[in-house]
Amino acid sequence: ELTGHQHYMYKEMLEQPEKAAAVIRGRLDDRFATARLNGLNLTPKELRAFRRVKILGCGSAYYVGQIGAQLIEDLARIPADAEAASEFRYRNPIIEPDTLYVVVSQSGETADTAFAVSEIKRKGGTVVGVVNAVGSTIAREVHGGIYLHAGPEIAVASTKALTNMAMAFGMLALHLGRLRDLSFADGERILTALKRIPDQIQAVLDDEAHIIDLAKRLAKTQNAFYIGRVRQYPVAREGAQKLKEISYVHAEAYPTSELKHGPLALIDPSMMTVAVVPDDELTDRNVGAVQQVLARGGEVIAITHASVDLQGLDVARIDVPKSEPELDPILLIIPTQLLAYHAALTLGYDIDKPRNLAKSVTVE
Ligand code: BG6
Repeated sequence: ELTGHQHYMYKEMLEQPEKAAAVIRGRLDDRFATARLNGLNLTPKELRAFRRVKILGCGSAYYVGQIGAQLIEDLARIPADAEAASEFRYRNPIIEPDTLYVVVSQSGETADTAFAVSEIKRKGGTVVGVVNAVGSTIAREVHGGIYLHAGPEIAVASTKALTNMAMAFGMLALHLGRLRDLSFADGERILTALKRIPDQIQAVLDDEAHIIDLAKRLAKTQNAFYIGRVRQYPVAREGAQKLKEISYVHAEAYPTSELKHGPLALIDPSMMTVAVVPDDELTDRNVGAVQQVLARGGEVIAITHASVDLQGLDVARIDVPKSEPELDPILLIIPTQLLAYHAALTLGYDIDKPRNLAKSVTVE
């Protein structure tokens, strides 16, 4: 099956443009500048009645849930947050009737996430799924949901499923937004941007040769920080997770804003920092943080946009295509996959089956 590709992870990364197109196919409604998500099995009236959204998942699915929560707050102005399903199940969570619960899972079999579904249902809550595996346990248990159409994902490190989870949240946020106060013009802005993402992912993948050079530098480091602010903090978390999962380089994610409140103490020439610096209202602050890292002798790789002026700072940059600010995280994540993959490849590890990890954890 691995025709021409060394690893499933690589094959699955390359499939992303095609799969990202598949998840939006037939679901974007130009006439009303919204997304059609009939699989949710919830009427507009029911959807309008929710006063909060709670997103649950594990690992990468949890980090994408954080991206989803921000998207929902941005576009629909409904308070939303994400939590690790593995924690939720052990803390006697309060289940509210006017909260929409959203569980996120590639396999649909993760025990912690499935348990969260049962607990929410037992307490009378409404739970929908963002799930890849059709007919899986979670897909069968939820009230409705959004299938990801990413096809089977074999590599432990999730790539295409994760991207499609983020695309699905883009559609869910658009849908909820257009039921509330998101204008037609803003709906169109998001819808148009969603349609462009598959080609833009391809553009990032086409930059592979350049990213390989930087991954080789990452492979040499003992420790790495991934930093990102607000919408980009989940990008940093996912990037750090990928690097540690498959290359075993110690990596931690921090919100860029927190750097000065502690982690800056660890910056020295042996520390590599991957900084997510998008072109947005916080660019200057993010560039300032990069400056602080450099001033302490740290090395920096910036995942950024071509329009960002890094003020001549001595950093390696990876420019990704610009989307709308709300959707930028989807594209800013892609280089972190290539960085982790090529770092692991350089170090000669078993990329598809990292030590101590399973593709889906179906036991407690
Ligand atoms: C973890 C896997 O155990 O489960 C991660 O190692 C994955 O790669 C997570 O993101 C969630 O899996 P799923 O199938 O529920 O999305």
